[in-house]
Amino acid sequence: RAQAGHPSFDALIAADLRVEPRDDMPEEYRSTLIRQIAQHAHSEIIGMQPEGNWITRAPSLRRKAILIAKVQDEAGHGLYLYSAAETLGVDRAELLDKLHEGKQKYSSIFNYPTLTWADNGAIGWLVDGAAIMNQVPLCRCSYGPYSRAMIRVCKEESFHQRQGFEILWTLMRGTPEQQAMAQDAANRWWWPSLMMFGPPDSGQDASKGHTAQSMAWGIKRFSNDDLRQKFVDMTVPQAQRLGLTLPDPDLKWNEERGHWDFGPIDWDEFWRVLKGDGACNAERIAHRRRAHDEGAWVREAATAYAAKHDASRAA
Ligand code: 3HC
Repeated sequence: RAQAGHPSFDALIAADLRVEPRDDMPEEYRSTLIRQIAQHAHSEIIGMQPEGNWITRAPSLRRKAILIAKVQDEAGHGLYLYSAAETLGVDRAELLDKLHEGKQKYSSIFNYPTLTWADNGAIGWLVDGAAIMNQVPLCRCSYGPYSRAMIRVCKEESFHQRQGFEILWTLMRGTPEQQAMAQDAANRWWWPSLMMFGPPDSGQDASKGHTAQSMAWGIKRFSNDDLRQKFVDMTVPQAQRLGLTLPDPDLKWNEERGHWDFGPIDWDEFWRVLKGDGACNAERIAHRRRAHDEGAWVREAATAYAAKHDASRAA
């Protein structure tokens, strides 16, 4: 919308207004959003696998129904996000090819295995909890379609987080074996959940990342470390309520800072998993490619139906 009288991109950003698909925008703003929204969408659909792995083994019909609803929601989140990415001039088929070829990422958290039923509790409580912490500010992202997709996603995420908390709440009031299973899951998912917020803002592990520019453009509203700290501050009291001990001996309330101090994160593990050396990287992509190939007939049928529909409308 380069018409006279319509604010320029810089004016929209300066006034904290929304940039819409038809607005002029710097190529790098467009490519940053395609990268981030695509990887966000890929995370949602790959994220279906760890919990999907437990649908046939849920301990009750109620838990099975909740897990089916959650996994279905993640697919829907992927759909909203691929649609938001397409408003930037890319096609979801092209983005999926990039995912399958390892040219685009998904959140490294999904390269960890779900070994017991309690992992579904830890994922809902910690992974979806971290996702909410990251996604609420994205509701105010400067790019209109992305911020609107996030508003609906966040509503569904709070159900995801609450059902995970309730799984652990139930287990912690169960037998000693169930309590041990919940504690084991918290031990395995705590540190990878902190890594979800991305590399540190400074220090030798800080990536030559995107934060400064993304914040200047109103894509990122907080830095990686700020969101990580907010997540720790919110989650530690929840762990206390659950009766779980978080696997960090350095965790301590710092009255002066008004935050929880926590121990060093193993960024070597983060970069190793990102490079493909996680427990489930190969399995996740193989499963994804298989699902894509087996779903080709659905895409063909939908395309044929749309063509027939357009033809009848045009007639
Ligand atoms: N997993 C994989 N890659 C990661 C990562 C993670 N947890 N954190 C950072 N990276 C990558 C970045 O993609 C970037 O690599 P790239 O240039 O090849 O894209 C590099 O590490 C440097 O990181 P930066 O912090 O500089 O990159 P960003 O500015 O993109 O910030 C981010 C990273 C905070 C994850 C940001 O991209 C973001 O907010 N994305 C949207 C939210 C999202 O994708 N969440 C993923 C989880 S979705 C989910 O959990 C679903 C839930 O329903 C279960």
